[in-house]
Amino acid sequence: MTIPLSSPLENKRIRAFAHANIALAKYWGKLDGEQNLPAVPSVSVTLEALLTTTELLFDPSLRSDQLRLDGSEVQGASLARVVRLLDEARARSGSKCFARVTSANSFPTGSGLASSASGFAALAMAALGACGRPVDRAEASDMARRASASAARSVFGGFARLDAGKPGQRVLAARPLAAADHWDLRVVIAINTRLPKGVGSTEGMNHTARTSAYYDGWVQLASGVADSAQDAIARKDLQALGEAAEHSALSMHACAMAARPPLVYLQPATLACVHEVRRLREQGVGAWCTIDAGPHVKVITSPMDAKRVVERLGSLPGVLQVIESRVGPDASVEVTEA
Ligand code: PMV
Repeated sequence: MTIPLSSPLENKRIRAFAHANIALAKYWGKLDGEQNLPAVPSVSVTLEALLTTTELLFDPSLRSDQLRLDGSEVQGASLARVVRLLDEARARSGSKCFARVTSANSFPTGSGLASSASGFAALAMAALGACGRPVDRAEASDMARRASASAARSVFGGFARLDAGKPGQRVLAARPLAAADHWDLRVVIAINTRLPKGVGSTEGMNHTARTSAYYDGWVQLASGVADSAQDAIARKDLQALGEAAEHSALSMHACAMAARPPLVYLQPATLACVHEVRRLREQGVGAWCTIDAGPHVKVITSPMDAKRVVERLGSLPGVLQVIESRVGPDASVEVTEA
């Protein structure tokens, strides 16, 4: 239960840090749109190299909430999602004060690199930090989940799981499966566009659920794949995790491609990466792909093989940049008096 707090939000300068995460077993489909409950469980790894830093200042002189993202003022639907989260912080604290949110990503925003995951995790941490007591991670995860379900997982470093929702459920947080130091896994990220994605995740998954004949099959297979990924993480079995991750990602995309009209997030560079990773495996390199709602490819591999994966993906046409990431830490928040 959430206890309302009397302490005001204003006069505090809050800085929160959250890392993006990549789902090894994907969330694609909502049980309930209003509560934003996922229809399937998901399992993720948090990425050290992809960081969102968010500053939050509740300012009595403001007449509305304001959002600045990567140096530009943001309005419309993106601002509305931020306002909804801030409304929760105001409801908890009894304050009516508006806020300025200034957020920056160390990577391209809104193109399938999980910027909403790290963004809303950082904002939830900041909003609870403003409420004037130590931040409870489960509460931050639940708050982030309502804005973007994948964001629930970015509150935790290491490896995390978000279960599927149940009908009528109101509270659902991700939970940590293992800390960052459990396993020195590497994720190599091939950035294949600088453009924002055409169809956002919410729209894409709702369209898939409504129109893809494969959607029921996807929901049926997703929990077994999530359990396999979780088990592989516990055993630090890269091959088992890689196979589960590829199966999850390609099943999700097959399901989306069977929607009407079809949703095709894959670009030529995406498929070039997928085939290159298969060739690498034939040559004895332990590397497996995953792809989210955009054209980028993330490859899970070992510290030993990461360099080779970076070199090979970097040489492919259409690959703009390659980043190697370690497993990232928990989200965190700093509060100072303004
Ligand atoms: O949390 P959302 O609404 O941005 O959806 C995320 C969907 C995927 O990135 C494709 C999969 C996932 O589990 O992160």
